[in-house]
Amino acid sequence: MPRSPVPVLTIDGPSGSGKGTVCRLLARALGWHLLDSGALYRAIGYAASMAGIDLSDAGAVTRCAEATRIRFRDPGDGGETQVIVNGHDAGDEIRTETCGAAASAIAAIPGVRTALLDLQRGFRRAPGLVADGRDMGTVIFPDAATKVFLTASAAERARRRHKQLKAKGLDVTLAALLHEIEARDARDASRAVAPLRAAPDAVVIDTTGMSAQAAADKVLALVHGR
Ligand code: DC
Repeated sequence: MPRSPVPVLTIDGPSGSGKGTVCRLLARALGWHLLDSGALYRAIGYAASMAGIDLSDAGAVTRCAEATRIRFRDPGDGGETQVIVNGHDAGDEIRTETCGAAASAIAAIPGVRTALLDLQRGFRRAPGLVADGRDMGTVIFPDAATKVFLTASAAERARRRHKQLKAKGLDVTLAALLHEIEARDARDASRAVAPLRAAPDAVVIDTTGMSAQAAADKVLALVHGR
């Protein structure tokens, strides 16, 4: 009898939609692995910046993506995954807006996306995978059993990011964040390869005014309802 594939739950959506927190809650509740694909793009942006590579040089950035070794380490306290780039812990640097902007820029390069394809699919291991990103349901795991697209108003997403960054002691204004989020959304949605959009078979959940736990509960109901 053919073995049934390892189940995948894809959670796509723009930055600040609550994906990171919701995915951690889901992975814990289901006892599944977690793929934070945004951290991979951030790691490449980080590695390229550290190497002094011009981020608009598609060839050089692609070579950097092919050569960069990325590992995740679970801090074990329910916190954000630590990202180890070429053996070095990228620390909080990887979560900054600067690194997010670099990630968004290099994510538009087709060679970078190809370089990360097998690495991402390799996270699909029993008993299951929660995949967090922009193209998890459309490109990476098109056969996923459950696909969700999380969204929220830009103002709400900027407020959430502001709270997160302030808690980390990072100093950014709400207005600057809103501007950055809108610019990043536009870039992610308009790029030629794997643009940010909901898969036709994804369930769209607007999390504006909703807690992360409430959003996770909605998704769990979808997973268990199948
Ligand atoms: O989710 P995040 O903010 O960590 O993602 C950082 C950037 O990486 C985001 O602006 C777009 C890009 N990205 C992508 O293109 N595809 C993914 N699957 C995940 C992230």
